[in-house]
Amino acid sequence: MYDNKLRIAIQKSGRLSKDSRRLLYNCGIKINFQKNKLISFSENMPIDVMCVRDDDIPGLVIDGIVDLGIVGRNVLEEEVLKRKFKSEKISFKILKHLDFGICRLSIGIPAEKKYHDINCLNGLRIATSYPYILKKYFNNKNVSFKICKLNGSVEVAIRAGLADAIFDLVSTGEALVSNGLKEVKVIHNSSACIIHNKNNFSDFKKNIIETFISRINGTIKARESKYIMLHISSNKVDNVVKLFIDSEKPTISKLLGRKNMVVMHIVSRESIFWETMEKLKNLGARSILVLPIEKMLE
Ligand code: PRP
Ligand code: ZN
Repeated sequence: MYDNKLRIAIQKSGRLSKDSRRLLYNCGIKINFQKNKLISFSENMPIDVMCVRDDDIPGLVIDGIVDLGIVGRNVLEEEVLKRKFKSEKISFKILKHLDFGICRLSIGIPAEKKYHDINCLNGLRIATSYPYILKKYFNNKNVSFKICKLNGSVEVAIRAGLADAIFDLVSTGEALVSNGLKEVKVIHNSSACIIHNKNNFSDFKKNIIETFISRINGTIKARESKYIMLHISSNKVDNVVKLFIDSEKPTISKLLGRKNMVVMHIVSRESIFWETMEKLKNLGARSILVLPIEKMLE
């Protein structure tokens, strides 16, 4: 593999692709994505991005074809179990859990069917794109089942007479409902993560990875944080500080022409809800502004 550039694999098209691209963009990595091109280059950093099918990403990382991959834990777990079953090599590390691609893998059955527990599924045929995760769960529960492996459109398998139940990805639940199904058992919770090969990276690559991860942390923190400005009488400052225990100490400055009033600037670690705004107002705060923070580096 090239040693003068870092290679990152992301999903070509699908539920993670937009967020993966946005993550790179927010980290200041400018990529000139071109349609139907496997590899796109960064204009401003020594990084190449490979746009591939998401199921290929864990293998590309484990086999050392790319350095990093952004992938859902569902797809990762399936590949790991498959490789374990085939006694193939599995070496990778989760570098960072991300806050997008949140979904679950669940069992769905026709809405009108009854369900008490997993034993109700004994001996049934289940359609899925995740046979290894399903097998692991059912084997642990000592429940037998038959498998119908499909790579997509799993939710129509029952109507098509291919299976009695499905085991599929659920996000909003819309696909289940619109196919007359109900979710009866969540087996795996998932979100996106960044994985890397356990190879010893050169110092050059290590440096880029460190910068990348620190920028991701900065954008995630920034997204969760808010900048608050308000006017309050100086004897109420301590009460305001108590409302933001997880935040750093606020900045306090004078308010021109108002003797007992001060201006407070606070960086809050969490989203500000209307309740907090109302508490501030009840303390006598005025001109309360809550602003989003774009980037944060500590
Ligand atoms: C997945 C899954 C469902 C849908 C669930 O399909 O198979 O169809 O998403 O999402 P929902 O709960 O928000 O409706 P995907 O879009 O990945 O395509 P596929 O069916 O081709 O796998
Ligand atoms: Zn689907």
